[in-house]
Amino acid sequence: MTMQPSSSVSDPVQQYVRGHHRRVDGWLSRLDATLISCVGQWQSAAGVSGAVGEIGVHHGRLFILLALLRNPGEQAFAIDLFEDQQFNVDQSGQGDEAVFRTNLARFGIDPGTVDIVRGNSLALTWAGLSGGQAPSVRLFSVDGGHTAEITRNDLTIADDSLGEGGVIVLDDYFNPEFPAVSEGMCRFMMERPQSLAPFAIGDNKLMLARPGWAERYRAMLVQTVTPRYFVRDTELFGTPISVFRTPRTLMQIIRQTNLTRRLRSHPLGQALKPIVRRFVQG
Ligand SMILES: C[S@@+](CC[C@H](N)C(=O)[O-])C[C@H]1O[C@@H](n2cnc3c(N)ncnc32)[C@H](O)[C@@H]1O
Repeated sequence: MTMQPSSSVSDPVQQYVRGHHRRVDGWLSRLDATLISCVGQWQSAAGVSGAVGEIGVHHGRLFILLALLRNPGEQAFAIDLFEDQQFNVDQSGQGDEAVFRTNLARFGIDPGTVDIVRGNSLALTWAGLSGGQAPSVRLFSVDGGHTAEITRNDLTIADDSLGEGGVIVLDDYFNPEFPAVSEGMCRFMMERPQSLAPFAIGDNKLMLARPGWAERYRAMLVQTVTPRYFVRDTELFGTPISVFRTPRTLMQIIRQTNLTRRLRSHPLGQALKPIVRRFVQG
């Protein structure tokens, strides 16, 4: 198993995932970058094509990864309030168009291939953004305003934009500092119950696809992502989902090893559990 489907260290996507993303201010962990790049590269191999884009780009940390994942001819769009920060009600990040453009240039992204949209997403629709063209997006990151209404609205735009095999990446769904994101997602799921199925949870991302595609993406990530990030398979909104986390504490590192996984259902593992807990958790 490998962490990435593509293994060349000089590949710009690899470099960005492995560390260069930290050169851009923002919120994207290496694991979440890995999950997104695995999906994007798998899409290319599977013939899933289309535009990539994000609502809420801040300085471009995640957006640059999306742009690097494109194949020739694929468009990108970046939507943010940028200088209109008076509408940034929850203060989640602070877009800056000049810094964003500078960062695009630093990573060799031609601004001519990026539609930069300055605006409040509450005033946007996919029909308006695309000029009425058919849905064609393959990767859409929703990371703008973190209120319930903005999250519901932005998921609706993303859902309307999605082409065949497309994937939506929602930020902060499980972040207790922004509880309204989960409310917005639940509202969206009540309004459009059959539209999207979640298939993976990362450090701070929830990944969704059309129900007919979700299981393929879930299984691919379990196969592709290095096992030390894998936590468990479970269910969310009635569909199977895999949980991946960066192990940060000693207990998490121990829990996420293959040996622990094998011992979990073994009598020896059951016997060792309280001892390990006592010594590792203090
Ligand atoms: C958490 S930051 C995005 C982080 C970014 N995705 C990254 O990779 O680091 C949230 C961004 O959403 C923008 N934003 C907040 N409310 C918005 C709205 N209603 N419409 C469009 N953008 C919004 C903010 O200006 C900010 O840049």
